[in-house]
Amino acid sequence: ESERYKLPDIDTPLGEERPKTWEDEIARKRYESRPAPGDEMARTDQTEWEALQIKKGKAALEAARGNQLELNTLVGRDGKPLPDVSKLLAASRRSEDGARVHREAEERRRRNMINDRRSLPMFKHREALVDAIKKHQVLVVQSETGSGKTTQIPQYLVEEGFGRIVCTQPRRVAAMSVAARVADEMNVKLGSEVGYSIRFEDCTSDKTVIKYVTDGMLLREFLSQPDLKDYDVIIIDEAHERSMSTDIVMGLVKDIARFRGDDVRVVISSATLNTKKFSNYFDDAPVYTVPGRRFDVDILYTKAPEADYVDACCVTVLQIHAKEPKGDILVFLTGQEEIEAAEEMLKERTRGSGSKIGELIIAPIYATLPSEMQAKIFEPTPEGARKVVLATNIAETSVTIPGIVYVIDPGFCKQNSYNPKTGMESLLVVPVSRAGAKQRSGRAGRTQPGKCFRLYTKWSFLNEMDEDTVPELLRTNLCQVVLLLLSLGIDNLIDFDFLDAPPAEALLRSLEQLYALGALNEEGKLTKVGRRMAELPLDPMMAKALLASEEYGCSEEVIIICAMLSVNNAIFYRPKDKKVIADAARAVFSRGGGGDHMTLLNCFVQWRDYGYSHQWCRENFVQGRTMKRARDIRDQLDGLLDRVEIKRSSVGTGSKVPILKSFTSGFFYNACRLQKNGNYRTMKNPHTIQLHPSSCLARSEIRPRWLIYHELVFTSKEYMRQVFDIEGRWLFEVAPHFYGEEDVEDTSKRKMPKVVGKSGGRS
Ligand code: CDP
Ligand code: MG
Repeated sequence: ESERYKLPDIDTPLGEERPKTWEDEIARKRYESRPAPGDEMARTDQTEWEALQIKKGKAALEAARGNQLELNTLVGRDGKPLPDVSKLLAASRRSEDGARVHREAEERRRRNMINDRRSLPMFKHREALVDAIKKHQVLVVQSETGSGKTTQIPQYLVEEGFGRIVCTQPRRVAAMSVAARVADEMNVKLGSEVGYSIRFEDCTSDKTVIKYVTDGMLLREFLSQPDLKDYDVIIIDEAHERSMSTDIVMGLVKDIARFRGDDVRVVISSATLNTKKFSNYFDDAPVYTVPGRRFDVDILYTKAPEADYVDACCVTVLQIHAKEPKGDILVFLTGQEEIEAAEEMLKERTRGSGSKIGELIIAPIYATLPSEMQAKIFEPTPEGARKVVLATNIAETSVTIPGIVYVIDPGFCKQNSYNPKTGMESLLVVPVSRAGAKQRSGRAGRTQPGKCFRLYTKWSFLNEMDEDTVPELLRTNLCQVVLLLLSLGIDNLIDFDFLDAPPAEALLRSLEQLYALGALNEEGKLTKVGRRMAELPLDPMMAKALLASEEYGCSEEVIIICAMLSVNNAIFYRPKDKKVIADAARAVFSRGGGGDHMTLLNCFVQWRDYGYSHQWCRENFVQGRTMKRARDIRDQLDGLLDRVEIKRSSVGTGSKVPILKSFTSGFFYNACRLQKNGNYRTMKNPHTIQLHPSSCLARSEIRPRWLIYHELVFTSKEYMRQVFDIEGRWLFEVAPHFYGEEDVEDTSKRKMPKVVGKSGGRS
């Protein structure tokens, strides 16, 4: 088995290792009969030479047709070549030298890739590293980003016959792109020997020996096999990120390591130097440090803080492009919206300047970007052009982009933050930590000396930034984790061996929330509902909504809305010059009421009724790619209905009440009520929040009295995003243990007129 994964020897041409096909044979013949340098080529002009090649090629093809057994057997009864063969024939005819040129280019590419593998810092440590892993059950590996931890260590282990390997990643994009890279390096199809598994997408098979998974997915695997016996090696990658799921996985793996003993190997991999903490946690596990290679990075600060950092980024990009020597640029932004804004700004400002300065290739990367678009960031930049990668935090350590010489760091990232006092969770744009800023600047010095432009003052760096990022577990809503731990039979959460224990208050708050959702009984034990909720790979509130849909007879509609909510606000777009038509198209989906949730449902259903057409998407200013992803997620959720035994049922798009009641059953915690001043106030732990301008309800003239929001985002104000309106008494109906009748009194259906112009949230 392991024989197959030996590093191919770079001295033998790779082409010869592949089984020969008749097409290869033609190419070989053609290659042998090529004109000697200085022969025909010198005497004839290009077109003549080509004609000659075509003639020779035809002869070779005839010869192949006569000689090759495979070809004959592939001819159908009617004497015509079978489709595959005709395709091959067509392909070799199409371009005289096409096949050969392509193959040679591919050979060159593969050879370079293998050379690259050998030049990675990790390669020199291959034997020692493998030995250390053989010797120690738990090993901490530390080395700089880009030295080959993620892509190489699993391959070394497979080459040495270690069995099945699973490697966790905190980000889905990283799991996918790294799996694709490793499959390519091993020359196998993605999803066969090398695969990945992320929420709503499993790209693995029985053959898979290297599996990249998001940390959240590995957590879920504990539910079906608590000892993870499918895996012989568990690699916890990017441990320094301290994502919530990684922290929990570490706690559970520590346990597994104890009772599986010598049967399992654990590798903790980190890109930062403070590995002592991991080592201590795993009973003083040894640390293997691989020194990275790194060039100097010049760090430049702004003199004064920047008011609009997206704009400042674009200005800096253009300055670099015009004045600095060659080298690609990496810009750190906080999310998709900023990235799209920057992309548009850059396109606008470089329009028509192509001939004066070189081309600027803009390559975005963020979590929900479709995988085929992600490949663009890894493509080599053509001579004379410059690539600018607009990335989220993902490029800080989990994805290494070759060729970066300039980094632009505005100093912000998006982080979820949870206030256990109010029970509210929101996404905030916050300053990065100094550790994060150092990682970012390090991206500029991987292959040569680079420059990092920090769009903040040196004073801010020294005085306003935290030293380290706070681990996610300490600043997040723990409901999902608590539910999972309880369903794994870990009842005593206070005693769970956390790397850093979350505040007791946050644990208590999540127990309360789970109790309110009906997942726990009064003794704090899981209920039947709780067990079913844990089986769904959804946030507990969403899981509850889905379970409730069974009762309301609308599971089909609810899974569509869940899928649409999961694709993250990237569905409707508004071209600058067509805002009015785009808004009108979107308003059609909202016509029947029911807020953003029903809008999403109507949009999906119409698209489905039009045969999932691209044309329809264009006409309605809907992102086709995002819709396709929503459809995939919907299909996955549909499969889940069977697993959790939820009856399929439908009420159609016409009756919104049962659908919205289902969501109310899950999200009643997020209910809020209209104030006289046009703002909303949350019901529990009163707090003022606003409608996000992107909500369809923000556009209507009438403000509903009661709302439920899907999520909160904090930009200039605290905004509710994805919102639907309810009747107050529903709250009492679905959560009588949580809302008293007095909370929801005055439940008249009358809606308060909106005070036009006074309330915020409209743009
Ligand atoms: O995990 P670590 O940061 O140590 O490095 P890695 O992700 O294994 O990357 C090793 C090398 O593979 C880097 O030089 C990357 O540029 C390259 N790589 C790539 O070209 N394409 C990918 N999708 C992933 C990695
Ligand atoms: Mg890595």
